[in-house]
Amino acid sequence: MSPFRITRTLPEDATDAALRADVRHGLTGTPKTLPPKWFYDAHGSELFERITELPEYYPTRAEREILVDRAGEIAAAARARTLVELGSGSSEKTRYLIDALTGLDTYVPVDVSESALTQAGQALIAERPGLDVHALIADFTAVLALPDTPGPRLVAFLGGTIGNLLPDERREFLASVRALLAPGDALLLGTDLVKDERVLVRAYDDAAGVTAAFDKNVLTVVNRELGADFDPDAFEHVALWDAGNEWIEMRLRSLTAQTVKIPALDLAVDFEDGEELRTEVSAKFREEGVRTELAAAGMELSHWWTDGAGRFALSLSTAR
Ligand code: SAH
Ligand code: AVI
Repeated sequence: MSPFRITRTLPEDATDAALRADVRHGLTGTPKTLPPKWFYDAHGSELFERITELPEYYPTRAEREILVDRAGEIAAAARARTLVELGSGSSEKTRYLIDALTGLDTYVPVDVSESALTQAGQALIAERPGLDVHALIADFTAVLALPDTPGPRLVAFLGGTIGNLLPDERREFLASVRALLAPGDALLLGTDLVKDERVLVRAYDDAAGVTAAFDKNVLTVVNRELGADFDPDAFEHVALWDAGNEWIEMRLRSLTAQTVKIPALDLAVDFEDGEELRTEVSAKFREEGVRTELAAAGMELSHWWTDGAGRFALSLSTAR
């Protein structure tokens, strides 16, 4: 069997310090916010996989359709020997790329979720003998030290996860991706597209309540890691379309006036009845906006592919 390595780029105490800083900052600010990367403990990663199978959640199916149709074209344009994937999760759709990239030596999945990386990596080495899998437990918004692997590199960022970054974070992130690209390397970016508000809101507020459970999972993470006493049943999941920003916002609305204690931070946080905590934005894009943001970061979009219904896009870009 080919090798599977997993490397932690940040020590566990740095992750703990980052969570503490994010929770203190986010819950003492107005409005209250938490960054979405803390959804993804092992249970959160499982819940996300269940979301991808929901009838209302179209992005995964739409992106898979593009990959099924276009993986050959993407591979021909990229000719990559190393595939780096940011926020790789289950790496499920990535298999279409891996199979199409005939000269591929190494796959480098990068994720904050150790459980997702381990499951995906072990499955892949069993299925694809000869592929070297070097997983990195890392925050893709931090400076990434990638392993020294053969070029050209294709950096893939699928699923529309770029939409979970706020505009300033996105700018910084794209600049750091640009810095990873040598001549001949490329970025494959998945972006969910602006569409009918009802379709969007349903995708983030499904009838079975899986997205609500995913949303509330962040409270469970803070309870476990920081000893907090959030009662998930005392909050309700809210998904709304912000037409000005063209993004979906997920929030947790307090069902009562309550005080939550967070002993590890020596903090008590008051919630008013009905007060909302923003847990995620999921921005939706248009072609011109994606092209402009990539150009501002020093990249040139060369290909733009959508699914048949025009719901989701994959774009390929190179450094200018
Ligand atoms: N790419 C997959 C998974 C998308 S879910 C797909 O298209 O289905 C988002 C993934 O990004 C999760 O696996 C989550 O753990 C990871 N993630 C979220 N924020 C992250 C961050 N800041 N750094 C690294 N990984 C992150
Ligand atoms: C990972 N990311 C692209 C998902 C999204 O659609 O923004 C996360 C998610 N949140 C709720 N459902 C799915």
